[in-house]
Amino acid sequence: MNSVSLNQDIYWVGVIDWAIRDFHGYITPKGSTYNNYLVLDEEPTLIDGVKLEFVDQSIQNIKALIEPAKIKHLVVNHIEPDHGGGLSRLMELMPGVPVYCTQKGREGLARYHDTSRWNFKVVKSGDRLRIGRRTLLFIETPMIHWPDSMMTLCVEDGILFSQDGFGQHLASSQRFDDEFVACASEAELEDSVWDYYANILMPFGGLIKNKIEEITRLGVPINMIAPDHGIIWRKRPGKVLDMYRDMANGKTDERVVIIYDTMWGGTGQMAQPIMQGLKEEGMDCRVIKLRATPLSVAIKEFWRARGCLLGSPTLNNNLFPYVAEFLVYLKGLRPKDRIVSAFGSYGWAGGAVKLAIEEFRGMKLEVFEEMLTTNYRPSSEEQKSGFEFGRRFALATREFHKRYA
Ligand code: FEO
Repeated sequence: MNSVSLNQDIYWVGVIDWAIRDFHGYITPKGSTYNNYLVLDEEPTLIDGVKLEFVDQSIQNIKALIEPAKIKHLVVNHIEPDHGGGLSRLMELMPGVPVYCTQKGREGLARYHDTSRWNFKVVKSGDRLRIGRRTLLFIETPMIHWPDSMMTLCVEDGILFSQDGFGQHLASSQRFDDEFVACASEAELEDSVWDYYANILMPFGGLIKNKIEEITRLGVPINMIAPDHGIIWRKRPGKVLDMYRDMANGKTDERVVIIYDTMWGGTGQMAQPIMQGLKEEGMDCRVIKLRATPLSVAIKEFWRARGCLLGSPTLNNNLFPYVAEFLVYLKGLRPKDRIVSAFGSYGWAGGAVKLAIEEFRGMKLEVFEEMLTTNYRPSSEEQKSGFEFGRRFALATREFHKRYA
């Protein structure tokens, strides 16, 4: 893969990782990319690095455009190893180059690399770097999504180099939103944005909203958003900004997702009449069995629905481990704006369903008071109760959804 032009003298010099399926536990069925960018102005500037195992590919892309020793500035928007891992190797080719990053970035890079000879230039929000005809404006974005994170705005071109923000884990031979939509679909691109936000950025919705407002207040038209993963928003940067604003404001689909696991089938049997009850009320519904689904996909489906019904059998007076794993992951993501309840079967002592409800209360989600349990497996009467439970939950979800209209 060679470099790709974003605008006059601005190039993508990143790499495509077609094979990655497990990104620190986040399952990535569509692979990913590690995007970095080269601005060939009077003082050539490299923005971001790539993962260590791909750094030679990125160097080849850079060398096709310029000898690395001629690069005058290196901007490090984010130090996580998928971007910062290859920096030591890059620094060998451009010794002494000034490295622009936040203070937290400098501290973090010193933990990952021997930075004793690196020429750091610590920057803050509002600092500018003139590189010839262009100006780079730095914008700190702490906790979106690491403490070191920042974005860099190329003022004259209106290109926001946004590191992880607005990215997607999506390997594609297309580099731009319009190309991707023409070859694949709008729905696939949107789904990738939802997936990435749900698994990486969900806890930071409030910060993201404020940061978008701060960037908008700069008064610089954003013509393009160039993230460090996935597709570059060349045609419609406003689309992904709107999607982020909407997600941060709690918008999602009027839908219920049933997420469950089962030991001897009892909890799974309960899911079916519940789903029929939801359907009876015209509620869009999806059913996810945890052991059959990557955790990151279950999280995305949770985030795309207004309501969630969680099914767990009781094992040793506790939650079924696969359901507990889901709840631990979900809790760390600090979900908001969703209505929830739980159901499940038990043998001799229950407890899992109550524990799930307690976990949901701890997350401050809206808990639909009713929950449903059965001994071993649902009788025909209990299946009817499940159907009615589904109907009532559909109505409650519809009512709750109106708050976000
Ligand atoms: Fe893509 Fe936070 O690294």
